[in-house]
Amino acid sequence: MKTKTATFFDLVRPDLLEVEARMLFSQYQHHPSLNEAIEHLLSSGGKRIRPILVLLTSGMLGANHEESINLAASIEMLHTATLVHDDLIDGSMLRRGIPTLNTKWSPGATVLTGDYIFARAAHLASTIGSKELMKIYARTLMTIVNGEITQLFNAQIIDPHQEYFDRIYAKTASLFEMSTEGAAILSGSKSEVIDAMKSFGYHIGIAFQIVDDVLDFISDQEHVGKPVTNDLRQGLITLPTLYYLEANPEGDKLIEKLRQREMDDQGIERLIDAIRSSGAIDQTLEQADRFVSAGEEMLDGMPDTPEKEALHELAHYVIKRTV
Ligand code: IPE
Ligand code: IPE
Ligand code: MG
Ligand code: MG
Repeated sequence: MKTKTATFFDLVRPDLLEVEARMLFSQYQHHPSLNEAIEHLLSSGGKRIRPILVLLTSGMLGANHEESINLAASIEMLHTATLVHDDLIDGSMLRRGIPTLNTKWSPGATVLTGDYIFARAAHLASTIGSKELMKIYARTLMTIVNGEITQLFNAQIIDPHQEYFDRIYAKTASLFEMSTEGAAILSGSKSEVIDAMKSFGYHIGIAFQIVDDVLDFISDQEHVGKPVTNDLRQGLITLPTLYYLEANPEGDKLIEKLRQREMDDQGIERLIDAIRSSGAIDQTLEQADRFVSAGEEMLDGMPDTPEKEALHELAHYVIKRTV
């Protein structure tokens, strides 16, 4: 899978190389399989969108270079660890175009490797020496895990839209938020600037996940490097499905059937096709667009730098991306 090339990417390319090196480096001699796994996971690429957010925010606000590299590396490591566990939980065989760890290793070894990467991420974050950042780090990880477990237990849902936005905040936007908030904290900016950058990360993160949920319907495995149409098959209702079913007289009944995993494969295939060719996809993308616009407003008072322009570009890329 190729990494997306765009001008916002060019601006951080040298720093990103440092981030990659930081993720791979460890001063400890641990079991070679752990390092092999990390090398394997990192060599397969990924869009590196979270470290790019850290680097651009840091550059715009003048944060310390070394600390920014460590924060960016730590966040990408944390992201990588969540993917290792997520693919095991979801039974996914492909990630970033290559076989997942769980296709090769036992569940036990996969869980432990994920744990090790979580710890490496925390260790990297701790080298920055900021108690405030460590608190945010721990809180974000709690939020992510709480979101995943809530999704797994599939409790009674009172407001499906609220449930959807809570879920995508937990699994995706929380880490985007941490990327921009963390970088703003490192820069020593005043609280209004930190809050605005946190809000930028939040909005872009929500839009990113909404688009991910659209791609799950309209893209293919070859292109995105991971399985598609998995959400519905796992009884997971995302925004395109919500919009589609809300416009359908049978919607409530179908939602319940999906949640209870009572729909057969044929029914699910038909539903996927119907959603794909319905207006629900555009309706969903319009919603993502609104989040991007709200996020961009947060940049209004920020210093006029090339990094600020690049953050605008990144915001648009989130909507336009096909991978
Ligand atoms: C995948 O994240 C998990 C989601 C939150 C959608 P990315 O789409 O950023 O994955 P990589 O890092 O580019 O592979
Ligand atoms: C991944 O969620 C989110 C986390 C790792 C926290 P998904 O299961 O929805 O993402 P993909 O589709 O596998 O990337
Ligand atoms: Mg998954
Ligand atoms: Mg999952």
